[in-house]
Amino acid sequence: MIKVDNMKKVYQTGEIMFEALKGVSLHIEKGEFVSIIGPSGSGKSTLMNILGCLDNASDGEYCLDGNTVKNMSDDAISELRNEKIGFIFQSFNLLPKLTAVENVELPLIYGKQSNKKRKEMAEKALSLVGLGDRMDHKPNEMSGGQRQRVAIARALVCEPAIILADEPTGNLDSKTTEEVMAILKDLNKLGNTIIVVTHEPEIAEQTSRVITVRDGNIVSDVRQVG
Ligand SMILES: Nc1ncnc2c1ncn2[C@@H]1O[C@H](COP(=O)(O)OP(=O)(O)OP(=O)(O)O)[C@@H](O)[C@H]1O
Ligand SMILES: [Mg+2]
Repeated sequence: MIKVDNMKKVYQTGEIMFEALKGVSLHIEKGEFVSIIGPSGSGKSTLMNILGCLDNASDGEYCLDGNTVKNMSDDAISELRNEKIGFIFQSFNLLPKLTAVENVELPLIYGKQSNKKRKEMAEKALSLVGLGDRMDHKPNEMSGGQRQRVAIARALVCEPAIILADEPTGNLDSKTTEEVMAILKDLNKLGNTIIVVTHEPEIAEQTSRVITVRDGNIVSDVRQVG
């Protein structure tokens, strides 16, 4: 599903070059549930952004479900991203003026579905995360955990094969963290490939493979009973 070969990422700020990824190689198969851990600044989000086709690598190869990203046009990359990947962020990134169901419909706007179909798909995704009774609430009318579930529903609504979550529970209490993890586990059981960046050992413990990044390198990659 995901094949990365000797990937490097150099950021340039003015005159200063910084190598955030120093040659990362990684294979992730369909249906894996992977956590990425490591100190702040080690390159976790940089790696996730490249895996999610939100940013380009400076060097190396990235092959996403058989597509070599380097050779593709920006439009083709956007299409691939929309089709294959759902994102969940730490800060939820919901639009405050839209209701839950409208927020979840957003990724579908580029698709060909009718308004009615879009709404149905959004309602289905919200029901799946247990928010069937909060469809018309705005973000400020919901708890942190409910907002993150809206964000998860938005990540799911296009039925992506891969879900990338960058510290999805960073802003949540432990009970809500468990709820979010339970949803991710269910999605994984349904066959979704899930990659989650986390600072929390309790989260990494619940995944079937833990990758540790340090100073721009993968320093360990351990499979475990999830
Ligand atoms: N756009 C950018 N321009 C310049 N440097 C950047 C940029 N984005 C990240 N960096 C640098 O690259 C390094 C890796 O950043 P990254 O965000 O990947 O770390 P991280 O492992 O996700 O950290 P955290 O756990 O704090 O989220 C850091 O030293 C950061 O300062
Ligand atoms: Mg980060």
